[in-house]
Amino acid sequence: MTHARQHPIQVVAHRGASEDAPEHTLAAYRKAIEDGADALECDVRLTADGHLVCVHDRRVNRTSNGRGAVSALELADLAALDFGSWKTREAWRGRDEEPDWEFLPADRTATSADTSVLTLERLLELIADAGRRVELAVETKHPTRWAGQVEERLLQLLKRFGLGVPASADESSVRIMSFSARSLHRVRAASPTLPTVYLMQFLRPRLRDGRLPAGVRIAGPSIRIVRNHPAFIERLKQAGHQVHVWTVNEPEDVGLCLELGVDAIITNRPRAVLDQLGR
Ligand code: G3P
Ligand code: CA
Repeated sequence: MTHARQHPIQVVAHRGASEDAPEHTLAAYRKAIEDGADALECDVRLTADGHLVCVHDRRVNRTSNGRGAVSALELADLAALDFGSWKTREAWRGRDEEPDWEFLPADRTATSADTSVLTLERLLELIADAGRRVELAVETKHPTRWAGQVEERLLQLLKRFGLGVPASADESSVRIMSFSARSLHRVRAASPTLPTVYLMQFLRPRLRDGRLPAGVRIAGPSIRIVRNHPAFIERLKQAGHQVHVWTVNEPEDVGLCLELGVDAIITNRPRAVLDQLGR
């Protein structure tokens, strides 16, 4: 992770290459690295016994063959579940509803070792072994419930990998994202040079002037905000913020992001976006 950044627009694999493999699995992140993604995005939650795992939803029901809240389960409980086969047609047989995403062929759910629950520690090991610079964007999910423990554990782990206290924000290969300004504030209080990203789903009136919560370096607007409020993106840039947009899967949205000169495109389809960028 010591190599310099090479491209002006980063392509970030959202939950891994999550169109081609089950989200947040080792299989999805390996594919993203193979595909040439500049960075990986992951959501983190704390288990009942204090481990950070990469799971998006509060509960494991959607993305595994188990049930229950991540916060009520221990790592060993999660390790017994399969986070891979939920995306196959077989797993949906007999249900009334159809998903709004494409089924994966059974052979693309990879081996069970690649589709068991992914700890953030294992993801950091994968990145360390990538053989090239691969950046990481970690999103703290519902951190208020844990009153600072998510951020504390996150920083402890990043420090173990030599990533917790970068010499400067520009040099950091890790950034912390959240919809919670309080969570980002806790991160900055503990590690002022670690860049933070303030995520925005809708454009709230108090943000319209392009000024983010104090100390936040990077804006993380949804593609919906970008489509509906391109002038807001300009204001963010004029205010000196980088702009990282999520989740950008359609070619016309990639085109819009390029036109507006955003800094990072967060996508479920890193290979397709890289192709569109001619990389
Ligand atoms: O990259 C930010 C984006 O992931 C936020 O939304 O729901 O996919 O975590 P969500
Ligand atoms: Ca996320």
